[in-house]
Amino acid sequence: MCGIVGYVGQRSCTDVLMDGLSRLEYRGYDSAGIAVFENGIIKVAKSKGRLKDLADKMDREGRLEGHAGIGHTRWATHGEPSDRNSHPHGGGSVTIVHNGIIENYKRLKDFLLSKGRTFESDTDTEVVAQLLDYYYQATPGDPVKAIIKTMKELEGSYALGVVFADFPDTVFALRKESPLIVGLGEGESFIASDVTAILQYTRDYYLLEPNEIAVLSKDGAKVYDLHYQEIKKERKTADWDVSAAEKGGYPHFMIKEIHEQPVAVKTTIAPRITDGMPDLSECGITPERLREFHAINVVACGTAMHAGMVGKYVIEKLAKVPVNVDIASEFRYREPLVGEGDLVIIISQSGETADSLAAMRLAKELGAKTLAIVNAKGSSIAREADMLIYTHAGPEIAVASTKAYMVQIAVMYLFAFELALAKGVIDEAECRRLTALLQETPAQIEQVLADKELTQKIAAELITADSLLYIGRGLDYALSMEGSLKLKEISYIHSESYAAGELKHGTISLITENMPVIAVATQKRLYEKTISNVKEVKARGAKVVLICREGCCPDQDVADHVFQIPNFDDLLMPMIAVVPLQLIAYYTAVLKGTDVDKPRNLAKSVTVE
Ligand code: M6R
Repeated sequence: MCGIVGYVGQRSCTDVLMDGLSRLEYRGYDSAGIAVFENGIIKVAKSKGRLKDLADKMDREGRLEGHAGIGHTRWATHGEPSDRNSHPHGGGSVTIVHNGIIENYKRLKDFLLSKGRTFESDTDTEVVAQLLDYYYQATPGDPVKAIIKTMKELEGSYALGVVFADFPDTVFALRKESPLIVGLGEGESFIASDVTAILQYTRDYYLLEPNEIAVLSKDGAKVYDLHYQEIKKERKTADWDVSAAEKGGYPHFMIKEIHEQPVAVKTTIAPRITDGMPDLSECGITPERLREFHAINVVACGTAMHAGMVGKYVIEKLAKVPVNVDIASEFRYREPLVGEGDLVIIISQSGETADSLAAMRLAKELGAKTLAIVNAKGSSIAREADMLIYTHAGPEIAVASTKAYMVQIAVMYLFAFELALAKGVIDEAECRRLTALLQETPAQIEQVLADKELTQKIAAELITADSLLYIGRGLDYALSMEGSLKLKEISYIHSESYAAGELKHGTISLITENMPVIAVATQKRLYEKTISNVKEVKARGAKVVLICREGCCPDQDVADHVFQIPNFDDLLMPMIAVVPLQLIAYYTAVLKGTDVDKPRNLAKSVTVE
């Protein structure tokens, strides 16, 4: 996720861009840059690091002065955070800033290389700049035509701010999936990834829809479709305060981030799939290397550790390699038996969790190879690991992790598919089938997100409980752990997760009518077994919420609420079934009136042990 701002008018463009970017820094902050028309010529200033680093650079090297331009704050996807990979990127007469991901950039880059074009960065964005210029050279004088031709070639999600050297008083914008608005002021126009960036100048805006192109001048904005027909847009007026706007209109970052999950999954997996097959070679993971490992340890904390639990089930089932999952604070002090020939996977959203970092250093000392699955670019764990897979969830602001968990498990799936293929346990056809299923999960998640009424109703009944139990078997047990943690950390209601088959060995004595039970039963093979356990708790008075697949018809009196999720492949069910668990936790916390995004006693990044 990145932030885009653009401006054309009478004000100092640099002031407007830098101010807007500061309000979008939550969308990404590993580098920043602006392009401004100075006396009719495009000048660029960009820098790795925070916006402050860009401001300092301009203080040292000279500030750009002009009245039209574009700006960007970045959360790296293609290419490490560096000055070279920072936006804006240029191609001939075109300079652009980009939010999103171009899935077919490799093919486009090959095409442009064959036309003699050269590239300065590792980004997918530069490919778009070059392609725009390529088409513009074919129809000089008509940027919109070049934009339309380019859009027809691009696959993926994107929003772009564009300037053409031949049009010094104009800013162009276009989008597909990634958000972009066009701000309308008196004698000035803006573009921004979200309305926060421009609220202090104007509250009037157009919402750019997918496949629309905006042409901005100081006198206003015109919007075109892909047939070059002008579209009459409805002018909207923002009535948010600035902090609400940063949340894109959602009341909390947590619910916003829950909604960002389908895009986060797409953005994370798309660059790691080539011709329908998992391809982690860019992350230093090759079939030869994978064949060297005999055992795997996953080490992490909290939600990231729960993602590791899902990974354990999937890797053991598919690749037949033993996987041990450890809490990082335990691993580092228990003299773990890992060494040469072992792989230790460290999962972390922040990449700075003290115990996970220490555990990784210990694993390296012991001779194991380390693979980090990390969201925050350039973080300590990312820098020190032998191999690295970045998740592309974008910044996660809410303390309760949701979208980071989702992409962590998405990566665990890709890794398991590739490992199973490398070990010869599955063949290419099966690997292809599984990869295609993974690509379908964003649509399934969308489907669950479309109707929240039942989760709200369930939440309303949970707020009076003092304690809850989450139960499941196999992958559903791994998922219950995450459901339980989510609820307790934000609603402050005590809860435990239990392997459903283990209840009878002690815990069932806690069951009364005051102990609600959330049962997850998405696995076909284990469904009847879990339902037997559900009947046992129901018979002892528990209120039961059952999460199962569509088409399952439990007896009417088995559960008080049945939440049915789309009928999908057993193995991939956690990616879908976690959504109602997140929503139940979220709405329970909202109804209890807790500080959802910043729950008491917790910090987003735990950098002390
Ligand atoms: O940044 P990390 O993924 O390493 O953080 C690990 C845990 O602190 C984190 O997942 C924590 O459990 C979350 N607050 C859970 O929502």
